Amino acid sequence: MDLLSGKGIVKRFGSLQVLHGVDITIRRGEALGVVGPNGAGKTTLFGVLAGTLPATEGVVHFEGQDISAWTAATRCRHGIARTHQVPRPFLGMSVLENTLVAAQHGAALRGAAAVKQAQDALDRVGLGALAARPTATLGLLDRKRLELARTLATRPTVLLLDEIGGGLTEGELHLLVDLIGTLCDDGLTIVWIEHVLHALLRVIDRLVCMDAGGVLAEGAPNEVMANPLVMSAYLGGVAA
Ligand SMILES: Nc1ncnc2c1ncn2[C@@H]1O[C@H](COP(=O)(O)OP(=O)(O)OP(=O)(O)O)[C@@H](O)[C@H]1O
Ligand SMILES: [Mg+2]
Repeated sequence: MDLLSGKGIVKRFGSLQVLHGVDITIRRGEALGVVGPNGAGKTTLFGVLAGTLPATEGVVHFEGQDISAWTAATRCRHGIARTHQVPRPFLGMSVLENTLVAAQHGAALRGAAAVKQAQDALDRVGLGALAARPTATLGLLDRKRLELARTLATRPTVLLLDEIGGGLTEGELHLLVDLIGTLCDDGLTIVWIEHVLHALLRVIDRLVCMDAGGVLAEGAPNEVMANPLVMSAYLGGVAA
């Protein structure tokens, strides 16, 4: 069943048109990969789905409802959570405090229930023992884990991951991919933008390739990657 979809999504920034009528459907329980050259519009599409960027045209549906007019905060409370391409933790707070903010604002929890939700999210990503650490002291992998914990603390139905693997060593990436794989196994729906293809291919069921503000191809990952249009978009853009 369709969980989240965008139909005819157009996004303009002034005179610059970034999305040209994108149709995308995310099925409940699947892990969908999104690839495409730099500037293709992937992050912009996430913004439209998560509600941080209003679409110029088009509609977004979630669990059968038209949520186009919902704010990002309302969408988050209903289970749409995202990570950012550039993580934005509150560096002056502890790891637990950062996650607590997500539990309070994203899941509308208070007091002991919020603390438990935050602590559970940290345990889930392997940061439980670092809960009291100042966030500024975390290395990159742990910051990525924190980014995931903050989304989990909002009790998501669907996770939108924007290049969460970027900048990691191969070994670190392996750990992160394993972690994301366990989230899929738990039944979370995942949409994952990633340039590091071999990481993506270990987790995803289906792949969408975007280019120049549109969907170039979608389907089984191997078929999409073998599509001549996709290959030329990559050769003309960024190396995967
Ligand atoms: N707030 C904005 N104002 C104006 N232009 C923007 C804005 N956000 C994005 N753009 C432009 O929209 C286009 C698509 O950007 P977007 O960040 O969605 O691409 P992307 O596919 O995520 O690229 P990357 O792989 O580099 O992250 C780019 O040309 C970008 O400069
Ligand atoms: Mg991007």
